[in-house]
Amino acid sequence: MKKIGDTLTNILEIKNLGKKFTKTGILKKGNSVVIAVDNVSFSILKGEVFVLAGESGSGKSTIGKIILKTISQDNGEVIFNNEIIDDSESKIKKIRMNCQMIQQDPYDSINPRMKIKDIISEPLRIHKFGTDDEINDRVIEVLREVKLDNSSDILEKFPHMLSGGQRQRIVLARALSIKPSLIIADEPVSMLDVSIRAEMLKIMEELQEKYQISFLYITHDLATARFFGQKIGILYKGKIVEMGNIDKVLLNPKHPYTQALINAISEPNPNNLLVEKQIKIQDNSNIQQTNGCIFATKCPYLFEKCQIEPKLEKINEEHYCACFLS
Ligand SMILES: Nc1ncnc2c1ncn2[C@@H]1O[C@H](COP(=O)(O)OP(=O)(O)OP(=O)(O)O)[C@@H](O)[C@H]1O
Ligand SMILES: [Mg+2]
Repeated sequence: MKKIGDTLTNILEIKNLGKKFTKTGILKKGNSVVIAVDNVSFSILKGEVFVLAGESGSGKSTIGKIILKTISQDNGEVIFNNEIIDDSESKIKKIRMNCQMIQQDPYDSINPRMKIKDIISEPLRIHKFGTDDEINDRVIEVLREVKLDNSSDILEKFPHMLSGGQRQRIVLARALSIKPSLIIADEPVSMLDVSIRAEMLKIMEELQEKYQISFLYITHDLATARFFGQKIGILYKGKIVEMGNIDKVLLNPKHPYTQALINAISEPNPNNLLVEKQIKIQDNSNIQQTNGCIFATKCPYLFEKCQIEPKLEKINEEHYCACFLS
């Protein structure tokens, strides 16, 4: 078991979160509603890494964006450090001072026309961290934390002059600068070469252990999830279908969807363990399933009871599953 915070205090609680998007149809064919996040609840302890895993479109990034208030939820609550984060200016400021996001593409977080020193120091200036000297010192400090130094004048460079791995480490340094207690890392290594993914994850792991920073690690890659995470929530079409201690869930998966995700990992090279490859699941698309189990149209074990929606229930210590077979 990896090291988690000494105190079992929640840094983040998500309660019954829901979000729908309306997609406007082309040629006035009407709008369709996408349920991106459906009654999702989970919590992250201080110093803990919680993984949200699931295939493309399952709602992972939407949850991250709701936490940071770049979009609002339709229902449910985000509780950070025991305070409900609503849409008021003061709460938005509070969450953004304490929680930072790293995205898949570094260019989503940085301005390509800014020098590295300005990119890293920008959050420090926005949040009035200190004097110019104090800000400069902090920039050098976080550069070292992400295993870069200024010997080649990296601070005077522009993002395009760096390698992909260096650029993503600059994004991490920028996130780290204001000493956040939670970092939402949304597929932070999936655009990097396989050879440098481990290096970036190792740096994040060191930061988590050294400063007890909590992480919400969003990924569809179960291999890196298991390397970095302590708890996991498996998302399918906006719902958590299985959740718990990462070893319990991944070594003894109970939900047919989690089992399918894991079975999709047939690659002996651990660097290639991407679940997006091909998930072999049943096609029950002929059945009409509106209120029952969300996985019914794909489940190889479908039976009558699945017309009722299974709730996420405790099946074991630190292990929850939403399936009647578990
Ligand atoms: N701004 C938006 N407007 C309309 N639909 C949206 C919007 N953002 C997300 N969606 C839809 O919500 C669902 C969840 O999207 P989300 O980006 O959260 O998935 P994801 O799990 O992060 O996927 P990926 O692994 O591809 O990043 C998808 O069906 C997506 O098309
Ligand atoms: Mg996403």
